[in-house]
Amino acid sequence: MIENKSIVLTGASSGIGFEALKLLAKGKGNRILAVARHVNNIQYFADNVTAFSCDISTKEGVDRVFAKAEELFGKIDLFYANAGFPYYEEFNYEDWDRVDAMFRTNTISPIYTYAKYIRHLNGREGILAYTVSAIGEMAMPGYAIYSSSKFALNGFQEAIRLEKPDNLQITCLYPVATDTNFFKVANAVEFEKPFPVQKPSHVAKKMIEGIEQGKAKVSPCGLFGFAKVLMGVVPPVRTVYWKLETAKLERFKKKLAVYHEKARENVTQVVEKGREVREAVREELQEKRGELQEKREELHEKREEIHRELDEKAASVREEQKEKFHV
Ligand SMILES: NC(=O)c1ccc[n+]([C@@H]2O[C@H](COP(=O)([O-])OP(=O)(O)OC[C@H]3O[C@@H](n4cnc5c(N)ncnc54)[C@H](OP(=O)(O)O)[C@@H]3O)[C@@H](O)[C@H]2O)c1
Repeated sequence: MIENKSIVLTGASSGIGFEALKLLAKGKGNRILAVARHVNNIQYFADNVTAFSCDISTKEGVDRVFAKAEELFGKIDLFYANAGFPYYEEFNYEDWDRVDAMFRTNTISPIYTYAKYIRHLNGREGILAYTVSAIGEMAMPGYAIYSSSKFALNGFQEAIRLEKPDNLQITCLYPVATDTNFFKVANAVEFEKPFPVQKPSHVAKKMIEGIEQGKAKVSPCGLFGFAKVLMGVVPPVRTVYWKLETAKLERFKKKLAVYHEKARENVTQVVEKGREVREAVREELQEKRGELQEKREELHEKREEIHRELDEKAASVREEQKEKFHV
């Protein structure tokens, strides 16, 4: 159990981070700054938890997190940079900003956090924890950008270990597929998760234990560890695994094509419906305009008739007067 620590935890509102928050909040004497962009569900989580809404994908965001933690705790004993997100897709587009957004959150933010944390510690003891990913060690079809963002973070942690000061412990988590919002964020259209899938409570528990034990690496799935060794010795095992995962991507692409076709049909139907409604309204307006014109003409005739009658009346009155006064 981690106790008497001042802790910053990013990505605390959901999934692995939320489960980690539950465990850390139980630790006696712990004080936690729980960070995410949307913090409604952790606003009143516990007395020792301060929810902090912040986007950590920018330098200003990370600076704000440090400033808030320093204001609350003074020293940060454990900084757990867990926030991150995936895309599940076929990488077939030229979109600089889409790639940039992922690298800012998954890679640049935790790297910048390291630099800031070292300066913050200024020689004091501290722990930096990262949620990397099993995909940061073994690429997966459908996750090209995500894989590369986590491979980059993995490369960083590997290199920085060789030059980091002794006062800093770095613990990295390598989860396989974990049943969180991750898969909803990855694509709006549902897809098959990679095999195997674990519970976030299990993953978070392993990570908190790993941090406490001062581990460099935490791999919460024993099967993946075994498979990695096996794949190293018998590479065709990896080829078969990748083939199975590629088949999932192919199925997803087909599903997406049907989904897009349906969406196109829906759009066409909506456009068609809109055209029909416009046409009906136009016809009704035309009819109403015709009716109005008829009414206008009727009124005009009535007015002419009244004028005629008035003229006749005036003429007959004039005649009567003439006769009466022998003018
Ligand atoms: N689930 C998996 O299969 C799996 C496997 C390997 C590694 N991982 C890694 O595990 C970590 C946690 O993911 P999860 O599975 O727990 O997914 P999750 O349930 O979607 O949680 C992601 C958390 O990160 C926060 N977050 C995302 N972008 C942020 C930003 N720019 N600024 C601040 N907070 C941000 C989210 O809150 P807001 O949206 O409110 O900001 C949320 O609290 C990620 O680094 C992910 O890459 C997940």
